[in-house]
Amino acid sequence: MELAQRLSAIPPYPFMELRRKIGDARKKGVDVISLGVGDPVESTPEGVIRELARQAEDQANHPYPPDEEKGMLLFREAVAAWYRRRYGVTLDPETEALGLIGSKEGVHHFVLARVNPGDVVLMTDPGYPAYRASILIGGGEPVSVPILPENGYLPKLEDISASVASKAVAMFLNYPNNPTGAVATRAFFADLVAFAREYDVAICHDGAYSEMLFDGTERLSFLNAPGAMDVGIELNSLSKPYNMTGWRIGMAVGNRALIAGLSKVKENTDSGIFAPIQHAAIWALEHEDAHIARMLEIYAKRRTLVVDTLRSLGWKYDPPKGTFYLWIPTPEGMSSLDFATLLFEQASVVVAAGTAYGQYGEGFVRIALTVPDARLEEAMDRIRKVLS
Ligand SMILES: Cc1ncc(COP(=O)(O)O)c(C=O)c1O
Repeated sequence: MELAQRLSAIPPYPFMELRRKIGDARKKGVDVISLGVGDPVESTPEGVIRELARQAEDQANHPYPPDEEKGMLLFREAVAAWYRRRYGVTLDPETEALGLIGSKEGVHHFVLARVNPGDVVLMTDPGYPAYRASILIGGGEPVSVPILPENGYLPKLEDISASVASKAVAMFLNYPNNPTGAVATRAFFADLVAFAREYDVAICHDGAYSEMLFDGTERLSFLNAPGAMDVGIELNSLSKPYNMTGWRIGMAVGNRALIAGLSKVKENTDSGIFAPIQHAAIWALEHEDAHIARMLEIYAKRRTLVVDTLRSLGWKYDPPKGTFYLWIPTPEGMSSLDFATLLFEQASVVVAAGTAYGQYGEGFVRIALTVPDARLEEAMDRIRKVLS
């Protein structure tokens, strides 16, 4: 059976490859420790699970959910209240917020809402692989904007040529950043708004890790920047802060026209999120700040363990301020893939090769801190043995 041509342009989703590789090794009895994928191992907060169970008992929640494609108004109101409380951002829940089946869904549908075939879409490189795939599926032309260590992994907007910028209709960015862990600043977001205005580029800022911050770093939304609401949206998600990756619930907030466009795509694509999941998400947004603080303490300890290990092996390494990832330079003369392969073959430890996130990821690997402490300790012991 021949498949649509649009699929042939899309490289295999890196994490699927990774999962296959791990599965094959485990079948052979190898004790593989995967630091490859950012999926929290600690459980979803109990209150959230209880609320799901309670709401699932209610037959009224079983049909298609109210306001199908937009998400229940109650959920959107909870999102607006959360944005006000956590970021000081004011949103109209009727027109400036939308429920999503995870932020990944928002990435894809944002493209369908904004991009015409052949349109240029900018995306940071290295970056979350779903941006490129969604742009390609939507018929757009992805153009990489490098984010480099010497610029704090923020794109240099002034280096984007006027000819490329004027062809671009949209731009994907994500801070705190997967994979580098870098965080944005208010000044950068202000520059981004000015750039978006100058070239009429719709910004899709992906804030999936907006709560994952260390060392007293300020929580920041793209919508904190004056004028951001005029030029873009922010995606967010319950996946990472509330350990709810499997629950598939997130949100898009910001520019009304873009939210209306997303809503139109969704109206014709899906029929919303199971109402009990929306109720459980409301519970999380309203009651589980302490869970986030607890998780950050856990990640901070793991971060210290990895950083200490690297330093003991001679790395000069300062950890990034955000996300539960560490973006680590490979040893001198080793490519990302060589280093990831060495760790896999000699230590049975999986790390993600930086090139899975784009060409500018060469020379780095990414470690996710989402494994139990004891497994991370074991992984560090194995790495120490292989490298020392
Ligand atoms: C940058 C970024 N955005 C979005 C997502 C998708 O998250 P979800 O669809 O679970 O909200 C991820 C998941 O790893 C991510 O790293």
